[in-house]
Amino acid sequence: TKLDLAIRGGTVVTASDTFRADVGVRDGRIVAVAAEIEGATREIDASGLLVLPGGIDSHVHIAQPSGPDVVMADDFASATAAAAAGGNTCIMPFALQQRGTSLRRCVEDYVRQAEGECHIDVSIHLIISDPTPEVLGQELPALLKAGYTSFKVFMTYDDLVLNDRQLLEVFEVARRERALVMVHAEGYDAIKYMTDRLERAGQTSPFFHATSRPELVEREAAHRAISHAELIDVPIMIVHVSGREAMEQIRWAQRRGLKVYAETCPQYLTLTADDLQGLNMEGAKYVCSPPPRDAASQAAIWEGLQQGVFQTFSSDHCPFRYESSEGKLTPKARTSFRWVPNGIPGIETRLPILFSEGVSAGRISLNRFVELTSTNHAKMYGLYPRKGSIGVGFDADITLWDPHRRETIRQENLHHGSDYTPWEGFEVTGWPVMTIARGEIVARDGMIVGNKGAGRILERDISAYA
Ligand code: URP
Ligand code: ZN
Ligand code: ZN
Ligand code: ZN
Repeated sequence: TKLDLAIRGGTVVTASDTFRADVGVRDGRIVAVAAEIEGATREIDASGLLVLPGGIDSHVHIAQPSGPDVVMADDFASATAAAAAGGNTCIMPFALQQRGTSLRRCVEDYVRQAEGECHIDVSIHLIISDPTPEVLGQELPALLKAGYTSFKVFMTYDDLVLNDRQLLEVFEVARRERALVMVHAEGYDAIKYMTDRLERAGQTSPFFHATSRPELVEREAAHRAISHAELIDVPIMIVHVSGREAMEQIRWAQRRGLKVYAETCPQYLTLTADDLQGLNMEGAKYVCSPPPRDAASQAAIWEGLQQGVFQTFSSDHCPFRYESSEGKLTPKARTSFRWVPNGIPGIETRLPILFSEGVSAGRISLNRFVELTSTNHAKMYGLYPRKGSIGVGFDADITLWDPHRRETIRQENLHHGSDYTPWEGFEVTGWPVMTIARGEIVARDGMIVGNKGAGRILERDISAYA
């Protein structure tokens, strides 16, 4: 039978190779990658374009409970539309366990919110905030066996922080079940102490968010997480690394042969703490944790991307509206940075920023770009070899990329639910022109053309790294 889709004349890029080939698709899967392929029902001319495995963003927050009076700016429909427009074909948000509630129930509720709403495939991680004997003994192991093979733990935030004993206990479950643990490494007590001290001195504007959690707070927590992981002998993934201090701890661990992996994000390459300054409350637009640092930290993160310290490059998309009393500017947030919701939107701009600043600027290769934005996410979180590359048998998740197209990032062109982008006016070279998810076009030239509901909720295998 005829192919459903043929993508002709493009340059295929994988984590290891770059070559001219046609790509044939049938029933949502890639069935041919060859110099010339047979005819198809639908033909796409990709000459002059790169044929990339669709972006996988393994760290996004969608419709996540964020405390009283605060609402996240994206639901599954808007987040997956924005992701698709930005060249992504799969995202991994978190089902958050609220303290005092059943983890299983939280997951069921979260899945129900996602069902029928997604433009692209979604696979869900867990956040463990309340590791009771019931959660550690029954709920978590059952969920890990059911395909939720990764979870995140936090070393800060009042509602989420785990103490050292709790970290060790969840690490033990991860080791036994071969789950991958993602760690938010920032030290709770040091941040609390600094926050109290800054508030007493009247230093309450958004800028002081960065002062309250300097790099050494992240370095200390990264080291502590690494030590706990070594004690239990479990792999960990330290997420959203912001600068040299934490990175050096990770490199030290990797050189000792420990299975310590790391992720970084666009904000740590392109923003600095100075962005948190700004008139009135404008700095709140850039409040995220860890905060962006300085130019030297950006250089350090590039070094880590080039040298392989980092396996994944994610957005940490965590969208709030700025002009909203349920977003960045709640009445309490106006009184102190302590109450400004942490997180920035970035699901749609991750790939263009890394491509432009990385590939177009000559800092990383095309193949490294693919590895950092797709392949390694699939391997790290148990979606490989279903997703993460262009090859026979993979899902036909494909982004056609124009490496020469110049664009300026503008809020008015984005699809996310937030009312601003931290990258307003940022110029990039290289742009996704078409996103194909399991063989169907979902976005073309910044327009969403697919239907919501086409995306599936995926179970995952055990991590290739666990
Ligand atoms: O500030 C951030 N990154 N908020 C999102 C939650 C997290 O810690 O990843
Ligand atoms: Zn985090
Ligand atoms: Zn996050
Ligand atoms: Zn984060």
